[in-house]
Amino acid sequence: MTQSLTLRRPDDWHLHLRDGEMLRAVAPESARHFARAIIMPNLVPPVVTGAQAAAYRDRILAALPDGARFEPLMTLYLTEDTDPADVAAAHASGLVKAVKLYPAGATTNSASGVSNFDKVRPVLEKMAEIGLPLCMHGEVTDPEIDIFDREAVFIDRVLDPIRRATPGLRVVMEHITTAQGAQYARDGGEDLAATITTHHLVINRNHILVGGIKPHYYCLPVAKREEHRLALRAAATSGDPSYFLGTDSAPHVDALKEHACGCAGCFTATNTLSILAEVFEQDAALDRLEAFTSLNGPAFYRLPVNDTTLTLTKGAPVVYPEKIDAAGDTVTVFDPGFPLHWTVAT
Ligand code: DOR
Ligand code: ZN
Repeated sequence: MTQSLTLRRPDDWHLHLRDGEMLRAVAPESARHFARAIIMPNLVPPVVTGAQAAAYRDRILAALPDGARFEPLMTLYLTEDTDPADVAAAHASGLVKAVKLYPAGATTNSASGVSNFDKVRPVLEKMAEIGLPLCMHGEVTDPEIDIFDREAVFIDRVLDPIRRATPGLRVVMEHITTAQGAQYARDGGEDLAATITTHHLVINRNHILVGGIKPHYYCLPVAKREEHRLALRAAATSGDPSYFLGTDSAPHVDALKEHACGCAGCFTATNTLSILAEVFEQDAALDRLEAFTSLNGPAFYRLPVNDTTLTLTKGAPVVYPEKIDAAGDTVTVFDPGFPLHWTVAT
């Protein structure tokens, strides 16, 4: 007997679509399964103003296959020069659904991010007033701090002080990777939530480093110890409204992943839903998959849930491409390391 599972159509609350040829290659991969996605603004140059976000949105819509129904939810890249009035206008027009904070130097294309958090205080206060969420890349950049500790230290040194100083600011801790992150998100009340990626539910740091270095498992924040992966699994499969899916699917061409200084990012758009169904089934939590992929995110972002559905069916191992063609090269699809049995029905 075929087992099947029907969900409200999922959304991806953290997605990198890039631009140009790469955008055209990867946009169909997300649009196939997801209704909406929060689009990261770390282009070169970054998406800083409302006008830039509107133009980027048009380029994304133009890159979608004919007939695709996919709504890009735009974000602005917070800099120390961001104008609170521009942010408020972009929000009031309905264009922008969040502002993204990258600590300067924390990750890919974060050079224009924030070094002095006092400088962005007027923007954060405006966002608290109008209810516009702040998506935070939560890692300190202090070279003294070990890369595996950067998320936990960020919570103490940056996130908690900002939240105390800015009552009412609505914050999404993006792509949490630690037990500390999961606990802080859960205990933070209704103005705080966290996204969790597909890959951080599957890999720990051994997957990157044992038996040869695996560049396609390298992302930021970097995967941590097994105890943290298990804490993320417990959080994602709990149904708790503090947690929802943000894949952080982040394509880089293989030449730049398999490189002496390889780029950070796992590309999961193609097989995320098959992986998540497998993970939730392994943890006897298939009945809570819909909360994670389709309900908790809209609730936090104060958007309606999608009115369409998506059905997964269980059967023989799923065949998905190892790589997709992109930008004159290939992009490797994330390999979870175990067979997948749940297929998205067309
Ligand atoms: O692994 C990552 N890749 N983490 C980020 O924060 C950025 C992303 C990218 O843009 O490639
Ligand atoms: Zn990201």
